[in-house]
Amino acid sequence: MPKLFSTIEIKDMELRNRIVMPPMCMYSSGEDGHSRLWHFVHYSTRAIGGTGLIIVEAAGIDPAGRISDKDLGIWEDSHIDGLSRVVTEVKKHGAKIAIQLNHAGRKCEVKEADIIAPSAIAFDENSPTPRLMTKDDIDNVITLFKNAAVRAKKADFDAIEIHAAHGYLINEFLSPLSNQRADEYGGSLENRARFLKEVVKAVREVWPMEKPLIVRVSAEDYIEAGNRDVDVANMLNSVKDEGIDIINVSSGAVVPAKINVYPGYQVKFSETIKKITGLYTIAGGLIVEPAMAEEIIQNERADLVYLGRELLRNPYWPLKAAKELGEDIAWPVQYERSK
Ligand SMILES: Cc1cc2nc3c(=O)[nH]c(=O)nc-3n(C[C@H](O)[C@H](O)[C@H](O)COP(=O)(O)O)c2cc1C
Repeated sequence: MPKLFSTIEIKDMELRNRIVMPPMCMYSSGEDGHSRLWHFVHYSTRAIGGTGLIIVEAAGIDPAGRISDKDLGIWEDSHIDGLSRVVTEVKKHGAKIAIQLNHAGRKCEVKEADIIAPSAIAFDENSPTPRLMTKDDIDNVITLFKNAAVRAKKADFDAIEIHAAHGYLINEFLSPLSNQRADEYGGSLENRARFLKEVVKAVREVWPMEKPLIVRVSAEDYIEAGNRDVDVANMLNSVKDEGIDIINVSSGAVVPAKINVYPGYQVKFSETIKKITGLYTIAGGLIVEPAMAEEIIQNERADLVYLGRELLRNPYWPLKAAKELGEDIAWPVQYERSK
């Protein structure tokens, strides 16, 4: 039996298979950050297509922490209803659903925003120089993450993913390339992980222990002086007891570095992080073939596999993958005549 289609129980979340749709910004909200019909159709289609876990795109915890002014939002209570409609529909089709909480830090491209970061270092020569965060700024952002988690709970998400990858605010603290602070938030691995630790701790005060908490990381900075997968794993070890369950393993984007990409290029980072932290991992990156996804799970390189762009191209990938791997899974009753 293919392991890709085996169930897995993580805390109180039972997934029907190991296939994950990773967060992917749709830039389809208005300035108000409300979800639209697009989000409803987009996410429920992947649930109908058989995906096990859907992670909703980076949602801004603060208007000034958005990537763009079209980001999905979770910074005010009026966002809950729209998100809740997506959640209810996705669950109806047998998938589980998480939401990625994000503060973009120095990568915020919203005009006239007060752009903050651990250090006053621009991403590149075309980007604005951010304002160095004070302790009050740090406390404020931690509260914003916590308040967003309260809303995610009210919308009835199965899991929360904290975005600590791709050069956004939390990643900027984790990487020595963007964090040159001299206080307790900079320097050693433990200090650079402190902000993430405080965010996880605050989120856990409102996010029930029996519900999974995912952290997405960039496991490699692709620059000599940056983080390696082992560094990130060690930082996660200093945070995990606050209540992390799953690591969604990505890489890069904290600085503009060249990345040599090929199918599965990040899977080795998942293996390292899984081994060193003992946490569940989600691996991915340019994966399109069912046999490759199956190999990753069978060889325990990860517990779950994500397919981003492939699920954009083909929302029914899991149905097709099951057939290819010789597994007979239930199709939506409406589509049975096409099985
Ligand atoms: C359109 C698009 C939007 C994305 N937005 C996000 C995002 O909101 N949060 C995130 O962590 N990664 C984001 N990513 C990265 C994906 O989650 C994924 O890691 C990446 O596409 C590599 O996987 P793939 O090769 O299977 O597509 C985005 C990728 C795409 C293509």
